[in-house]
Amino acid sequence: MRKKIIAGNWKMNYCVNKAEDFVSEIVNTIDTDEVDVVICPNFVALDRISELLDETNVKLGAQNVYFEDKGAFTGETSANMLAAVGVDYCIVGHSERRQYFGETNEIVNKKAKKLLEVAINPIVCVGETLEERESNKMFDVVKKQVEESLTGIDKSLLMKNVVIAYEPIWAIGTGKTATAEQANEMCKYIRSVVKDMTDEETAQNVRIQYGGSVKPSNANEILNMSDIDGALVGGASLTNDFVAIVNY
Ligand code: 13P
Repeated sequence: MRKKIIAGNWKMNYCVNKAEDFVSEIVNTIDTDEVDVVICPNFVALDRISELLDETNVKLGAQNVYFEDKGAFTGETSANMLAAVGVDYCIVGHSERRQYFGETNEIVNKKAKKLLEVAINPIVCVGETLEERESNKMFDVVKKQVEESLTGIDKSLLMKNVVIAYEPIWAIGTGKTATAEQANEMCKYIRSVVKDMTDEETAQNVRIQYGGSVKPSNANEILNMSDIDGALVGGASLTNDFVAIVNY
């Protein structure tokens, strides 16, 4: 039985004080062992939020990492640095990073492997554009992203530590959600790609989230689909809606 995982990706919102106020407000209302809950603030707030989450069930996530250990990489943050402030999960390959910062599957793969070296669980994002969906290329696009982003990762790590997030780009921040059936169809397909890369046991255990305009009104339907194991929530994770989604 796969445990659900619901993560809030704050993107470039909430600086330290606001982040602290908001987490203090919601953290005591998130009291569940049934779902893994992750909050992914901006880098500058990680340390402070880490302290706040210390005695709670809520896990800390980062939104990005660099794959080198240290050195002359101005502006970058290593996996070790994230581990040192108590980060448990880290998003890699978000479509916004792929689109605005040229992140490729190869880079995503290096980042995911580096995170696993320091026992941080990567949340590896994949998803097609509207044009790719309309021209029926979405399965090929997502297959390539999954294969290239996860290549060379040991299957026991894939099964226990990696989370895959299916986020169709046309549904991010647009208010336009994939139907639960569309989302489930792709998550099921991703599972079959993982099976072809590894085996049935790994495919049945890997967790696959859906992301894209998840809100309290659609969370229940989405999270009850057979192959959807959680949600990666953007806009709604900045408000009390996040609590409602976690309590779907
Ligand atoms: P929205 O929930 O705002 O559509 O964002 C989804 C997302 O990109 C989460 O990573």
